[in-house]
Amino acid sequence: MNLLVLGGAGYIGSHFVKLATELKHNVIVVDNLLTGHKESVNKKAKFYKGDIRDRIFLDKVFKENNIDACIHFAASSLVGESMKNPVKYFDNNVTGTIILLEMMAKYDVKKIVFSSSAATYGQHDKMPITEDYETKPTNPYGETKLFMEKMMKWSDLAYGIKYVSLRYFNVAGASIDSSIGEDHRPETHLIPIVLQVPLEKREYITIFGDDYKTKDGTCIRDYIHVEDLVDAHIKALNYLAKGNNSEVFNLGTETGYSNKEIVETARTVTKHPVPMKLGNRRPGDPDKLVATYKKAEKILGWTPTKDIKAIISSAWNFHKKHPNGFEE
Ligand code: UFG
Repeated sequence: MNLLVLGGAGYIGSHFVKLATELKHNVIVVDNLLTGHKESVNKKAKFYKGDIRDRIFLDKVFKENNIDACIHFAASSLVGESMKNPVKYFDNNVTGTIILLEMMAKYDVKKIVFSSSAATYGQHDKMPITEDYETKPTNPYGETKLFMEKMMKWSDLAYGIKYVSLRYFNVAGASIDSSIGEDHRPETHLIPIVLQVPLEKREYITIFGDDYKTKDGTCIRDYIHVEDLVDAHIKALNYLAKGNNSEVFNLGTETGYSNKEIVETARTVTKHPVPMKLGNRRPGDPDKLVATYKKAEKILGWTPTKDIKAIISSAWNFHKKHPNGFEE
């Protein structure tokens, strides 16, 4: 298939591009490189530098390529930043998706796999979360992802664009061959920050709050390996290629780990003491986010294959090999 990957130079996008090119798809990448890295994009993919909010630019990309399906990763994705600057999130995420859907309708592209988030659910007491849980985001980031899903629902009705929305839980780890991995500037995610301690880039990890309603008081998240995650996108594409209806799926592992447990696992994997300090809560953080993936298993035939130790080990191998990320 001719696949247009929006945000293909980002952390998750680049892992998808790697897999899709290995599977011999013809991949076209669009990325504004504000947070992505051109070096992380597989050389077999055709690359366009530009912003999806730029109508003229995106029109040219669609005109020059006979696109069969879009895979949409292009978005701002930090919970904390979205609380401080919500307008940036509505502009980048919602406006970008409006223009993308407009182009899909114009060029008659009828399939899209969309990068959604567990942040669409917000705060719930009963875990694991199934896809029919109420969506009530606790931060602007989650709100924009929900908005984007809603735009796709109505675009399906109006233009016949079929979508699969994948609600990711916490994506982590790196490619098993250590060629690509996570490199955000600045880094805000727990696992890469914890690993900065054994990498001697920081002295200790600060845990944001220990008075949450959880077993040890620190937040609980469901971590999924990035290669398991991108595999679900290929399965979603195959599902759409068979002419199936639009659907929403959770992608998680049904296992939650507290922030303290993540630090403990990182100590085991890296054999480093990783000192820990307690900080204030980070606004917008829900207590617990754990998914059930039964629907993706049943309909897409997808199951996660890597546990938390394998996830942290793959990230550790990547960071040891590329201590300065994609800067070398
Ligand atoms: N945390 C710390 N210290 C740090 C960094 C993070 O204690 O230095 C904590 C956070 O407060 C949170 C947990 O580690 O409790 C995980 O935080 P991350 O920033 O790694 O991940 P989030 O859960 O905030 O967000 C991630 C993605 C979102 C996605 C969400 C869904 O960044 O895009 O998972 O669960 F929506």
